[in-house]
Amino acid sequence: MRKMFVSAYECKPGMRIAEDIYNEYGAIIIAENMILDDYIIMRIQEMGFTRVKIYETSEEMVPVGKTELFKAQYNENVDNFKGILHDISEGKDIDSKRVNEATNSIILRINENRDIVNAVNEMRNSDEYLYSHSINVSLLSMLIGKWLKLDYKSIKSLVTSAYLHDIGMVKVPAEIVNKPTSLTAEEYDEVKMHCQYGFKTAETMQDMNDDILKGILMHHEREDGSGYPFGLNSKQIHDNAKIIAVADIYDAMTSKRVYRRRICHFDVIECIQRDYFRKLDQHIAGIFLNNIASYYIGEFVKLNTGAIGEIVHINQNNISKPIIRSNDVYIDLSKERSISIVELV
Ligand SMILES: [Fe+2]
Repeated sequence: MRKMFVSAYECKPGMRIAEDIYNEYGAIIIAENMILDDYIIMRIQEMGFTRVKIYETSEEMVPVGKTELFKAQYNENVDNFKGILHDISEGKDIDSKRVNEATNSIILRINENRDIVNAVNEMRNSDEYLYSHSINVSLLSMLIGKWLKLDYKSIKSLVTSAYLHDIGMVKVPAEIVNKPTSLTAEEYDEVKMHCQYGFKTAETMQDMNDDILKGILMHHEREDGSGYPFGLNSKQIHDNAKIIAVADIYDAMTSKRVYRRRICHFDVIECIQRDYFRKLDQHIAGIFLNNIASYYIGEFVKLNTGAIGEIVHINQNNISKPIIRSNDVYIDLSKERSISIVELV
């Protein structure tokens, strides 16, 4: 496709960037192929760029909203990830340019919390679980990193680690990965190998570092020593792995793979608080669950009484039991223990 320059003030949402844009330190801040939206255009103008190179398109530019662009970028990242896995399965090295392109485009969305939470909930395709799971875990890990107030460099390594955390699955025989029935002990041992396979595969990537590798290797380790591959304890587990573990469990539990209908996130929150109390870093899990719960304010739910109500308040000391307004009556689920949420509607 032909490329052309447009001035920073002629940029329009929907245009596609045709060459990487670097900051003064030489780091790519906007990668080739990224689709412009109002936020990115504002960043380009703020950073003082006078013009950018875009792909010329014969099609009429369709004005698209921020959310549509977010989804388009999400799908591109899924395709990008497929390409990386394809390369690995053919014995090639990981293309660090592809990884950088995806992680940069993810980090650029760091302030779009609402779009991230929605995308993680909606953009799922059970046939392509591994791909969307990798993007979801990257997005969620980034949010946790932001809520923990990590700096840019740490967030970049965290997102890269999250993006690659399950690449080792490509080396686990497909008949085990896709087996519809439960796994034998030997098959499960093989699945567990994905951490070491992923580590080995990522090790050779250009610009790789220890923080990224440890996130991949240790994301199934648990605080109480019950995890794998090494049964490490809390002090030995890298922070990237602790964060990825929280994002990984949340995404897996809310995915359609596990639940047939639209999952109730408050059940997942309760389940994580109950079943993973000694397994996850409590500070990290607490910050994540508290923040994520607040995005469900305003959602409508069906209660076990049959009534429909709106979530109006999250109880900070009991986040899985919010306050619901139903027919102008306020029901505090932390007090009315016989009433519970059945599903989001
Ligand atoms: Fe994993």
